[in-house]
Amino acid sequence: MSQEKQLELEYNYRVVRQFTLVTILWGIVGMGVGVLIAAQLVWPALNFDIPYLTYSRLRPLHTNAVIFAFGTSALFATSYYVVQRTCQTRLFGGKLAEFTFWGWQAIILSAAITLPMGFTSGKEYAELEWPIDIAIAVVWISYAVVFFGTLIKRKTSHIYVANWFFGGFIITVAVLHIVNSMAIPVSGMKSYSIYAGAIDAMIQWWYGHNAVGFLLTAGFLGMMYYFVPKQAGRPVYSYRLSIVHFWALVSLYIWAGPHHLHYTALPDWTQSLGMVMSIILFAPSWGGMINGIMTLSGAWHKLRYDPILRFLIVSLSFYGMSTFEGPMMAIKTVNALSHYTDWTIGHVHSGALGWVAMVSIGAVYHLVPKLFGQERMYSINLINVHFWLATVGTVLYIVAMWISGVMQGLMWRAVNTDGTLTYSFVESLEASYPFYFVRFVGGAIFWSGMILMAYNTYKTIAAPKASLKSVEQAV
Ligand code: HEM
Ligand code: HEM
Repeated sequence: MSQEKQLELEYNYRVVRQFTLVTILWGIVGMGVGVLIAAQLVWPALNFDIPYLTYSRLRPLHTNAVIFAFGTSALFATSYYVVQRTCQTRLFGGKLAEFTFWGWQAIILSAAITLPMGFTSGKEYAELEWPIDIAIAVVWISYAVVFFGTLIKRKTSHIYVANWFFGGFIITVAVLHIVNSMAIPVSGMKSYSIYAGAIDAMIQWWYGHNAVGFLLTAGFLGMMYYFVPKQAGRPVYSYRLSIVHFWALVSLYIWAGPHHLHYTALPDWTQSLGMVMSIILFAPSWGGMINGIMTLSGAWHKLRYDPILRFLIVSLSFYGMSTFEGPMMAIKTVNALSHYTDWTIGHVHSGALGWVAMVSIGAVYHLVPKLFGQERMYSINLINVHFWLATVGTVLYIVAMWISGVMQGLMWRAVNTDGTLTYSFVESLEASYPFYFVRFVGGAIFWSGMILMAYNTYKTIAAPKASLKSVEQAV
């Protein structure tokens, strides 16, 4: 029996393959919508006066597509792969795993249809209406059963740290989603939150911030803890630090939500608590980043010729940057300047493009050859070009937003000696245009890299089995 056939029997690679391929597809779609809304902010006529294409409807489509279609598919693919490999056992619940794939795709499609139609609960990152929310809960609980079922039947005595991060992310997202989505339906596609006023806001940002903390951070750290050591061919720098990292991160993140609600009707003490917890959060975040980067000790030279490793290590650098910036922005006096400005958007995308997208791209390049019976991707050069497009695109995007954000904050607070405002809002908007253009260019560059990735993946899959040999063997 060929090695490939044997692996197929041993592990459920089918569902991993499915999620890996849709990661690329949804990446292109979600970021494509991002480029479109970035263009609309420069040329508003690009909504063509069609309600379905207005900025207000496409913006949540973008956030849902990149977070829940692209990012979450990458998490499904990698968690299903990593839990099987590190537990040395086949995925639990074959049909149930299949159900999580088709169920999740159905949810993505329903979001893609209902958001442009204008159905929304109005809660950021939780816009989908109640019937879809119920479907999300069902699929997510099935995901938990498959993941933890596999952990239970593992053939190893130890649970590798990546699974701790994936497990923490799966449980917390279930709790966040169910609590925040509690609502009373008034029609087939309309409901009202059961929470009111400041409590609604607090629950929403407890959800919103922990969606960042557990989905966009803990899940992707699980990815990092498997793929960085694998790609570098080195054990993780400090296993002890990785465990401290996990417990410190999960116990701190959950308190930081109120930093999204500074200077609001929330009680003052909750705002201060959120601020303090956010500042402390800097420590485990950097502990994790250093642990990942130091895994390269003794293998730094690999960065010279391995663009996949470069994706993974640069993603960690962006992770470090955004987790330094976040605690700073959580300080109330800094937030007084940054809130409502493009600085927040810059922070978001240094995390989203630099960290989340780059670590996923690195993991997918590592996975594709393994899942499709090859030793390497079709073209290493194209991965290298993709790496530079992604890096340049991210830097253009975030630098433009930082400058525009700080400028906006300063213009809005500038007052004349008689107490009147120095600038009108429209003046600050006009001053932002050049930066919106640069953001659009940066986004388009990043997006073009995703197209190269799709092409490279297609050529890898289409090549005759085992024909793409690793570079060392080919030489
Ligand atoms: C120690 C880690 C972090 C802290 C303390 C932190 C803190 C903050 C703060 C203070 C804001 C601005 C809130 C406001 O003024 O409205 C913010 C916004 C945001 N951050 Fe972070 N951040 C961290 C890491 C990250 C990472 C790694 C990502 C992404 C992968 C991320 C994604 C976001 C998003 C999406 C928002 C915008 C939320 C919204 O208003 O829609 N953050 N963060
Ligand atoms: C080609 C790449 C991308 C482009 C051009 C792009 C563009 C945009 C634009 C124009 C906005 C609206 C900003 C505003 O309202 O002022 C936005 C918001 C957002 N994007 Fe992206 N984006 C891209 C990739 C991503 C990725 C990969 C993620 C997540 C993994 C992401 C997550 C978000 C989030 C969370 C927001 C809302 C931020 C907030 O409310 O504070 N984006 N994006």
